Amino acid sequence: MKIGILTGGGDCPGLNAVIRAVVRKSISQKQWEVIGIFEGWRGLIDEGLTRPMTLAEVSGILHRGGTILKTSRTNPYSKKIENGEQRVLENIKKLEIDCLVAVGGEDTLGVAEKLFHKGVNMIGIPKTIDNDLSGTDYTFGYDTAVNIATEAIDRLHTTAESHNRVLVCEVMGRHAGWIAIGCGIAGGADVILIPERPVEMDNVCELLKKRHNRGKDFSIVVVAEGAKISLEKEKDRDGSFIVQELGTDEFGHVRLGGIGNVIAREIEKRTGFESRMVILGHIQRGGSPTAFDRILATRFGVKAVDLIERGEFGKMVALRGKDIVAVELGKAVYETRTIDDELYETAAVFFG
Ligand code: F6P
Repeated sequence: MKIGILTGGGDCPGLNAVIRAVVRKSISQKQWEVIGIFEGWRGLIDEGLTRPMTLAEVSGILHRGGTILKTSRTNPYSKKIENGEQRVLENIKKLEIDCLVAVGGEDTLGVAEKLFHKGVNMIGIPKTIDNDLSGTDYTFGYDTAVNIATEAIDRLHTTAESHNRVLVCEVMGRHAGWIAIGCGIAGGADVILIPERPVEMDNVCELLKKRHNRGKDFSIVVVAEGAKISLEKEKDRDGSFIVQELGTDEFGHVRLGGIGNVIAREIEKRTGFESRMVILGHIQRGGSPTAFDRILATRFGVKAVDLIERGEFGKMVALRGKDIVAVELGKAVYETRTIDDELYETAAVFFG
């Protein structure tokens, strides 16, 4: 058996742990060959981006952030790439790969699902700091990102308090507010703004005024980059929200960033409270994974090899409760997992 493995989309802590698990179990226990495919799907489109993986290559990487296989947001189905799908299929054939393990989020696994329907023996492994994939309770990378953001909020607290300021902390999360809600609850944020709950700027300011009226002279606001915030009241509104776009990627997703800036400015203008903001950005994706993410990634990697052995292709490994299970690849790809009402209402108890 010869398997290929690639990591696609944004990197996240735990990718090396999953690569190590797949390679170790395949080589040591199954005596299979493993081909490393570099830079995500680009590695199956361009020449010279693959090489056999060895046990030595995955030694000492468990605790390291990033991915030794590198990654990219290359989309074989993008109009920018000529005959993308055909080139991928030809290369899989040329490399004599019997099964492909794709580690990624909705985009990478979306490509994996399409290729499965073209006859490729495919296994998916879910990763993303955003934690927004359906079919699994958690993706690895999320726990690390939340811990990094929580530590940042703890630090922002002391400086906000010293200066009597409002500090706005912008975190990642385009379609779902998992990081925002996680670090907001853990860090004791006074307002949390997420894509799932559109709000008006005036309501945010009311919450902050309420807090300051009860004797607090500083506040922490956490905002997901994709949060839907309207600057106008509903009656004057044209239905638009603040959007800070930085272009699009090959999958057609907008790159976001900067909403925190607008919010801090508006808070200061509307309340008179001195405000500052910070965008955590890629700091949330860098560095060592937490123990939780290392364990989850390792369990996912080992389970992926089990599925290959059983010939259960077209599946994605997933966490359900305390168990690692196999779900249809399509389940992860076509639905974004968003924040449920109960979790949001729990966070909202502490607003204002
Ligand atoms: O998909 C993960 C993610 O970190 C999102 O939260 C964020 O919007 C996006 O990637 C940023 O992408 P890039 O690193 O390509 O700019």
